[in-house]
Amino acid sequence: MSEPSQDWQPDRYQQHAGFVAVLGTPALELLNPRPGERILDLGCGDGVLTEKLVAAGCQVVGVDAGADMIAAARARGLDAHVVDGHALAFANEFDAVFSNAALHWMTRPAEVVAGVHRALKPDGRFVAEFGGHGNVAAIRTALIAVLGRYGIDGAALNPWYFPTPDEYSALLRAAGFEVHSAELIPRPTPLPTDVGGWMDTFADSFFATLSLQDRASARAEAVDLLRSVLCDSEGRWTADYVRLRFSASRLD
Ligand code: BEZ
Repeated sequence: MSEPSQDWQPDRYQQHAGFVAVLGTPALELLNPRPGERILDLGCGDGVLTEKLVAAGCQVVGVDAGADMIAAARARGLDAHVVDGHALAFANEFDAVFSNAALHWMTRPAEVVAGVHRALKPDGRFVAEFGGHGNVAAIRTALIAVLGRYGIDGAALNPWYFPTPDEYSALLRAAGFEVHSAELIPRPTPLPTDVGGWMDTFADSFFATLSLQDRASARAEAVDLLRSVLCDSEGRWTADYVRLRFSASRLD
């Protein structure tokens, strides 16, 4: 899940985004892991879901681009490695590749899908869920609007890839997969803190070019802009998540 452009702090991640692993259950169910299967968890983060695959009796390798996240995963006793998802070097060795809330950080998807295809045994499954078309649209719009006030093209700083099911299915087919299902699922997601905490955890790249003082002001302006659409009268924040969940298998 972790891109080097984002400062990943496992403790902060747990505080503001502990829901990510909890809400990964439907993707795990679609994977339907079987005891003894060898599974690659692509973008394993701090390993909370990876542990569930191990508990299901699978032999799991976790990979993630974030060194701090991999340290947290290893602290759970997992077989986890710092690897860029665009450059997977595995060949014909996994029964399945699983990924939750990570593929949207990998902005050269053809390279990712090619590496997953190589990593799988023939007939191996690729099952994942990540941000799909329209994901966090209000948050992105607010960030872009606020950065515009500082003379910055926020759209050019967008670190995420949120495709439609058609677009991602075409990529999968071109790489040699059969696509069994691919659907877009709106999933408004209650935040444990507020959208400022969410931005601190996930949106570094939008703020990176601002001075520290401007960063604090821009963050506050974005939170203010979003209050009327993402915060209810009780002060509870909900992020406008849209998931793309798919199941595919290696054809050749
Ligand atoms: C997501 O899970 O959809 C997501 C998480 C962080 C940043 C952007 C999207």
